[in-house]
Amino acid sequence: MNAPTPLIAGNWKMNGTAGALAEAQAIKAGAPASGVRVALCPPATLVERMSRALAGGGVIIGGQDCHAEPSGAFTGDVSAEMLADAGASLVILGHSERRAGHGESDSDVVAKVEAALRGGLEPIICVGETLDEREAGRAIEVVTRQVRGSLPASLAGKAFTVAYEPVWAIGTGLTPSSDDIVEIHQAIRATLREMFGAGGDGPAILYGGSVKPGNAAEILGLPEVGGALVGGASLKAADFLAIVAGAPKA
Ligand code: 13P
Repeated sequence: MNAPTPLIAGNWKMNGTAGALAEAQAIKAGAPASGVRVALCPPATLVERMSRALAGGGVIIGGQDCHAEPSGAFTGDVSAEMLADAGASLVILGHSERRAGHGESDSDVVAKVEAALRGGLEPIICVGETLDEREAGRAIEVVTRQVRGSLPASLAGKAFTVAYEPVWAIGTGLTPSSDDIVEIHQAIRATLREMFGAGGDGPAILYGGSVKPGNAAEILGLPEVGGALVGGASLKAADFLAIVAGAPKA
């Protein structure tokens, strides 16, 4: 099967108000027209405005989380249907900041993935080990368990992406060695094949954690690395576009 089209997705986390839309416009202006998918996942308050501001360009808009239910008495939450209504077509799920900061379990992530599919959103499902787990030699075991536990069987035949984000590499400037990234990505691919058969070859597996202009081309050129999930460096158009430029063209 052909390699999936690389996806470079910016996760703005809890950053950005109206003034930041100028950076998004600059990303739209500089994004390549083909060969790589470019996405921005702003905070929920900006999803609709960013969708309008970037309409007609190639940049895909995504949310950073969604509730498992379509609507109801869930104060402060946003559903997949609401994100889609606001112009999103992707959603990040199971980010380690949600798992650690909001107590999300693998089964919570499964319910959210089901919600994303119901709402017509393509999920980006995040997995990754902590430093303690890596130092204990448990990274592969932890990550493959998260993949098995967080991806419902209903993903078969659907568009989705897995993002490997070692917790200790997020926002720290640290990255795993190239060999360590490849080892984990290959383990994720093998797990996807176990779960989905030949369909496990299709989804891109992104790397996330301190991706910067200076390391992007090397990381993005590694076997089984199908793109990047970028935090801090996605807030500045010049940095994000330099990362996008490092992606091998499909
Ligand atoms: P940084 O790129 O800031 O390390 O964040 C990575 C991340 O968590 C993306 O989801």
